[in-house]
Amino acid sequence: MATLDTQRFDLYLPPSQAGGGLDQDEEWCEIERDGERQRIRLHDYASIFNVPGLYEQLFCEKLECDSPEIVCQLLAAELIADDIDPATLKALDFGAGNGMVGEQLANVGVESMVGLDLLPEARDAAMRDRPGLYEDYFALDITDVEPDDRRELESHDFNAMTCVAALGFGDIPPAAFAEAFNLLDSPGWVAFNLRDRFMEDNEAGSFGAFITRMLEQDVLEEQARVTYTHRVSVAGEPLEYNAVVACKRDDVPLDWTRAS
Ligand SMILES: C[S@@+](CC[C@H](N)C(=O)[O-])C[C@H]1O[C@@H](n2cnc3c(N)ncnc32)[C@H](O)[C@@H]1O
Repeated sequence: MATLDTQRFDLYLPPSQAGGGLDQDEEWCEIERDGERQRIRLHDYASIFNVPGLYEQLFCEKLECDSPEIVCQLLAAELIADDIDPATLKALDFGAGNGMVGEQLANVGVESMVGLDLLPEARDAAMRDRPGLYEDYFALDITDVEPDDRRELESHDFNAMTCVAALGFGDIPPAAFAEAFNLLDSPGWVAFNLRDRFMEDNEAGSFGAFITRMLEQDVLEEQARVTYTHRVSVAGEPLEYNAVVACKRDDVPLDWTRAS
């Protein structure tokens, strides 16, 4: 768990009656600063990253999220099993946020990593809270990249990608995942997590259907999967996720991400 030396906040979660009725995407908390309470939606990452230490205090401590560590440890175990030195990885951390996954990658011996996130607030928070961790950090939409940015991204010759707590719920869509995935060399390593109900969803256009197709058509070869509690909800209920480590075998056709 991150040990940032930051201000502590009085944090309030919804009363149990209200909290029990909230979907994961509707959850909120309130923080008290200078005697005033401010309500923030848990998926309003820009507002959370703007407050140093809030992401860690809220998600890691109060809601018991260990996903960065769990996914990176699962990746590390597969690297060890394949006798691969983590220092040979050039990792793209997609949906990198304020750098919690980068920190865990470094803990397992990965030395070269680049962050990529939609939000400039995420990049600013990573630079502020974990300076020097990422070689580079791009704040952009991977489905709409300027040629210079694309060239720079491609010049990193990535052979691994992590994507933790960033798929589903209107975050990274399949089309963006595919674009980032296609930045990796083949063979390459992919480590990600996804809520169990999204993984099981086989409706056309869903993430589950997209991942299943990648696995069935050998674009992706699964190495390890665990089901675990990603975190608890604001009502204290466990939220079950799958963590997956897989090998990239080929680029994915972008039209696989479309519903039909
Ligand atoms: C819950 S945070 C996870 C951050 C980090 N991976 C972690 O585990 O601590 C989700 C992150 O995904 C990012 N995100 C959402 N949609 C995205 C997109 N289309 N492209 C890149 N990043 C995106 C958000 O900005 C946010 O930083």
